[in-house]
Amino acid sequence: MRRRRVLVLGSGGREHALALALSRSPSVSEVLVAPGNVGTESRIGPVAIRSLVGASLAPAAVVALARQQAIDLVVVGPEGPLCEGVVDALEAAGIQVFGPRKAAARLEASKAFLKRLAETAGIPTAPFFVTSNYADAARYIDERGRPVVVKTDGLAGGKGAIVTSTPEEAKAAAYAMLVERVFGQAGACIVIEDRLPGEELSVHAVTDGERILVLPVARDHKRIGDGDTGPNTGGMGACAPVHVEARLLERIEREVLLPTLDALRNAGTPYRGVLYAGLMVANDGTPNLLEHNVRFGDPETQVLMPLLDGDIAELFASVAVGKLDAESVTIAPNRSAVALVLAAAGYPESPRQGDAIRGLERAAAVPGAHVVHAGTQARGDELVSAGGRVLGVVGVAESREAARSLAYEAADHIRFDGMQLRRDIAAGASLGAFHRDSKLSPTATVSTTVKGRTDE
Ligand code: AMP
Ligand code: GLY
Repeated sequence: MRRRRVLVLGSGGREHALALALSRSPSVSEVLVAPGNVGTESRIGPVAIRSLVGASLAPAAVVALARQQAIDLVVVGPEGPLCEGVVDALEAAGIQVFGPRKAAARLEASKAFLKRLAETAGIPTAPFFVTSNYADAARYIDERGRPVVVKTDGLAGGKGAIVTSTPEEAKAAAYAMLVERVFGQAGACIVIEDRLPGEELSVHAVTDGERILVLPVARDHKRIGDGDTGPNTGGMGACAPVHVEARLLERIEREVLLPTLDALRNAGTPYRGVLYAGLMVANDGTPNLLEHNVRFGDPETQVLMPLLDGDIAELFASVAVGKLDAESVTIAPNRSAVALVLAAAGYPESPRQGDAIRGLERAAAVPGAHVVHAGTQARGDELVSAGGRVLGVVGVAESREAARSLAYEAADHIRFDGMQLRRDIAAGASLGAFHRDSKLSPTATVSTTVKGRTDE
């Protein structure tokens, strides 16, 4: 077979990690990343990775680009283009694409849509209230009389969920969203839901809409500070696999993932791509759904890709044609990955840009570690910071502890002014209850079985 030219859309650490994994796929001849970043410009290795700097991600522009570059498969990184219908446009043009269409991407585009779907489908999720009116929001918060989380209905770059402890805080969050419109149109409608106790997990499932391939369970560390302090960020680090009991994984599939796919299929808007469920697992083991994302997580992708052997392009292409081929990849049984995010001064509120970055070569030279770029830019001979999350450093080894020490060893070579790096990523204590399960066999974390409904 002629080898594939693959186009990845996006410009962050996730897209760099996807490009690296695709470049290792035997079926791939070249990986283009639009618009890409400094890291996705590499002609070393058997398969070149190239950035298409300045490329637009508007659906029509992507179709034109894919045609011009004779692309065989498009892999969409971020939610923005999915929610704008890039998959619909590519499919209409006869181009293979990995990702959900616009109608199914509403799972992430609208939290109100997600919550109503969960309620109708009987998926465990926190009790909630949807409103566009501040007086109604304030009344609900007072009547509920318990800690709530206030969320924008629309996309807010991962910053639209405010976890509160008192009614005053909750009302202030609702006011900021509905009246002051600090999140613009995204906050014109809000979801208020009970704040749930428990342990957070990220579960990614690759799916053709009926069958699923569940990837190793990952843990993201969302707060900016050590010990989970400070504001939420896009994610300051991740590790995988996180060992969970087979029974819990089975509940997640049966109570969350499959009912979501069924509901969308029954509504005439089947889902294809990767479904990433953000879960809060209660003490009694109930997997409460916090959110669905319609794309890979960032930085979860950085720890998931190194765990997959085989041909990920083949996997994505099989989903694109609606016939999941779970055999095209295998999940390495004795491999663990830890990703650290090196963030700019001022992140997440107002990241400073333009700080010179040193030590990348020494970091990348640590065996078992590699660096992914997210917010970097070349300035003359120098590399400077150019975004909130600047770099990711990934350690891959036989155990989480070993992967963790490699990642920190490599990250400690990198310096830039104001660099923020959490020191407790993937540390036992920060993994809560799931750490205690770590003696389970790693295969307990993975369902390579193709599951789905065959009754229609
Ligand atoms: P979301 O964008 O809905 O995933 O929310 C972002 C983060 O806020 C999650 O990763 C959780 O850490 C936290 N969060 C969201 N909803 C809840 C909830 N109902 N209870 C407790 N924490 C939550
Ligand atoms: N790491 C969280 C996300 O990608 O949404």
